[in-house]
Amino acid sequence: GNDDKLEYIKSKIGTFPDFPKKGIVFRDIFSALRDPTACKYLKEVLVQLVKEKCPNAEIIVGLESRGFLFNFMVATELGIGCAPVRKKGKLPGDLISVEYVLEYGKDIFEMQANAIKPGQKVIIVDDLLATGGSLKAAIELVRKAGGNVIGSFVVLELEDLHGRDKLDCDVYSLIKY
Ligand code: PRP
Ligand code: ADE
Repeated sequence: GNDDKLEYIKSKIGTFPDFPKKGIVFRDIFSALRDPTACKYLKEVLVQLVKEKCPNAEIIVGLESRGFLFNFMVATELGIGCAPVRKKGKLPGDLISVEYVLEYGKDIFEMQANAIKPGQKVIIVDDLLATGGSLKAAIELVRKAGGNVIGSFVVLELEDLHGRDKLDCDVYSLIKY
């Protein structure tokens, strides 16, 4: 069942104390993605969750860079398109941008102004929810672009940091720490 798959994936996640800064416990999804069974299970459980919670999604937005592992994959499985939120200076054309703070730094996120059609039902995906700063900024960008955020999905959630309390949309996570 799904609980066994999630337990298996969790057993493959790498843990690195004091990376990238002292005091941060880094949860490394790439450790799990080296394992073919973990890849297969992760795809299955994530796609199933999105289909269950947001079957009417019209486009999926992924956060650079680990979020990109999942937005294109989920988009092709749902038969919808995908769009990126990128760190500053990477995207061409008219942009919308927002400054944000995350667990171990700060940066600027950008989206192409025409990425989302007005009123479009948008879901957002990332690998991990920590303080919620990144996802909060992405939600703000999508809304500025005219999108209707109907849900956000992360593979890993660091519950002690209470990131979801910052987010005023439904947030679904697969694996909790
Ligand atoms: C990581 C992670 C999330 C964010 C979560 O991204 O992939 O996007 O931090 O932290 P928060 O909830 O405290 O905002 P990072 O900026 O390290 O970029 P990467 O995906 O390019 O490694
Ligand atoms: N992004 C923000 N905090 C993180 C953590 N503890 N592990 C991995 N990615 C992160």
